[in-house]
Amino acid sequence: MTAAIECRAISHSFPMAGERFQVLNDINLTIERGEMVAIIGPSGSGKSTLMNLIGCLMTAEAGELSILGTATSGMDRNQLATLRRDHIGFVFQQFHLLPRTSALDNVKMPLMYAEQRLNDAEQRARECLELVGLADKLQNHPSQLSGGQQQRVAIARALINRPDILLADEPTGALDSKTSAEIMALFRQLNQRGHTVVLVTHEAEVAAQADRIITVRDGQLQLPEAS
Ligand SMILES: Nc1ncnc2c1ncn2[C@@H]1O[C@H](COP(=O)(O)OP(=O)(O)O)[C@@H](O)[C@H]1O
Ligand SMILES: [Mg+2]
Repeated sequence: MTAAIECRAISHSFPMAGERFQVLNDINLTIERGEMVAIIGPSGSGKSTLMNLIGCLMTAEAGELSILGTATSGMDRNQLATLRRDHIGFVFQQFHLLPRTSALDNVKMPLMYAEQRLNDAEQRARECLELVGLADKLQNHPSQLSGGQQQRVAIARALINRPDILLADEPTGALDSKTSAEIMALFRQLNQRGHTVVLVTHEAEVAAQADRIITVRDGQLQLPEAS
C-alpha cells in the first residue's frame, strides 16, 4: 500500500528583496494512510507553505511529492486541481465561508465544479453537515453560527468530495480552548472513519491529540529526540 503523502527532498524559496528566501529545505516526510499527524513549529518556520504544497495549492521548486502513490511533478494546473478535488479536503483557521449563504449552500459549493447532479449534491451536503453535528443548522448563515459551528461547516465542506486526506492549517487558531477540544474530537472521529488527517497547530494540547508530531524549524524537519 502506498503512503497517503510522500515528500522527497522538497525545497522551496520565495523571492525577497531581489534574492531568494529559502522557506523549505530538503523536507523528507512520509505520512501513512490512516494517520493523524500534527505539524508544529514557530511562526514563519514554513508550516503553511508545507501544507499548501502537500495540498497541491502550489508546486515545490525542487523535490517530489506523491499523493496516494501518484507523483505530482509534471502535472499541470488542471491535473493538480483534479487531484485536489478527488482526494484532498482543506480547512483553514479563518473558516472562509461565504457570508449571506446558508450552511447547506456553503457545503455544496465545491460540487458546483463537479459533474454530479444537483439533487445528489444537496443530499451529500446534508449528510456532511449531519456528520459534523449541524443537522439542525442547515439554513443558518455564518453570522448566525458560533465560531466552532462555522468551523464545523468548513469541515463539512472539506468532506463533500469524500477526500482521503484532510489538511487543516491552524483549524483551532480562532477558537477558545473548549471549542478547540470539540473540533479536535471531530477530527479524531473523522480520522477513525478513515480520513488521513494532517493539521498545523501551535497549541501543545491540540498537537497532543495526534498520533505523531512533526516539528518544522527554519524550513527543516526537526528529528524527534532520540530516547
Ligand atoms: N507567497 C509568499 N511570498 C514570499 N514569502 C512568503 C510567501 N509565503 C510565505 N512566505 C514567507 O515564508 C516564511 C514561512 O511562511 P509560512 O509557511 O506561512 O510559515 P508558518 O505557517 O510556519 O508561520 C515566512 O517568512 C513568510 O513570510
Ligand atoms: Mg502558517
